[in-house]
Amino acid sequence: MTQDELKQQVAAAALKHVPRGEVIGVGTGSTVNFFIDALAGIRQDIKGAVSSSERSTERLRAHGIAVFDLNDVPRLSVYVDGADEIDPQGAMIKGGGGALTREKIIAEAADRFVCIVDQSKLVPTLGRFPLPVEVVPMARELVAQRLRSMGGDPRERAGYVTDNGNIILDVHGLQITEPREFESRVNQIPGVVTVGLFALRGADVALVGTSEGVEQRNFTPRTR
Ligand code: A5P
Repeated sequence: MTQDELKQQVAAAALKHVPRGEVIGVGTGSTVNFFIDALAGIRQDIKGAVSSSERSTERLRAHGIAVFDLNDVPRLSVYVDGADEIDPQGAMIKGGGGALTREKIIAEAADRFVCIVDQSKLVPTLGRFPLPVEVVPMARELVAQRLRSMGGDPRERAGYVTDNGNIILDVHGLQITEPREFESRVNQIPGVVTVGLFALRGADVALVGTSEGVEQRNFTPRTR
C-alpha cells in the first residue's frame, strides 16, 4: 500500500469517531485532507466544523461543510488531526504544516483528540522530526539562544509566516525523553507563541494506518 492509501484508510476509519449532529474540530495536513474528503460523505449528519487553518477551511467549504468560529462553539466533543510524530504515550510533534497554534487551541477545547497517522509517524522517542516553535518575530534570537541551551539546533523556516503573522523555528537534534516537562519549559520562554509538542494535552486515541489495516491505540491521561 502507498503512504497515501494508508492515510486514506485511516481517514475513513476516523468517521466512526465523529459524533452526529455536532460541530467537530478539524486539523490540518495531507492526512486531514483525506479526512475532510471522507467527511463530505456524511456532511448532512454533522452540524459543521471548527478548522485549524485557512487551508482546511477552504477545503471544508468547498465540500459544503459549514465552518464555525471557535468562539461560537467553545466546547467540542472531538478533534481529528494528524501528527508528524507520535510516541507510545500519545505525545506528539505537530506543526510540520505550520498550523500548530490554532491546532493547540482547538485540541484544548475538545474532550477527545483523535490522531490519524500512517505507521511511519510512530516513534519510540520524539525529536527526529524537527520540533516547530512559533515565535514572535522580534524574539527570534532570544528564543533561539534558549533553545540552543536546551540542546537543540533551531533553524528559521525560510520565507514562512504563520496564519498569525509569526515565524517558525524548527528545532533539530532533539531527543525528547520527558515531553511534558520539555513542553512546559519551552512554553515559559518569552516570545514563544506555541511549541509544537502536544504532550500535556496529547492524543486520546491514535488510529494508525498499516498495511494490515487500521490499528487503534487508546491513551488515558495517566498513561500519557
Ligand atoms: C500541521 O500543522 C501539522 O501539525 C500536521 O498535523 C502534521 O504536519 C501532519 O501532517 P501530514 O498529515 O501531512 O503528515
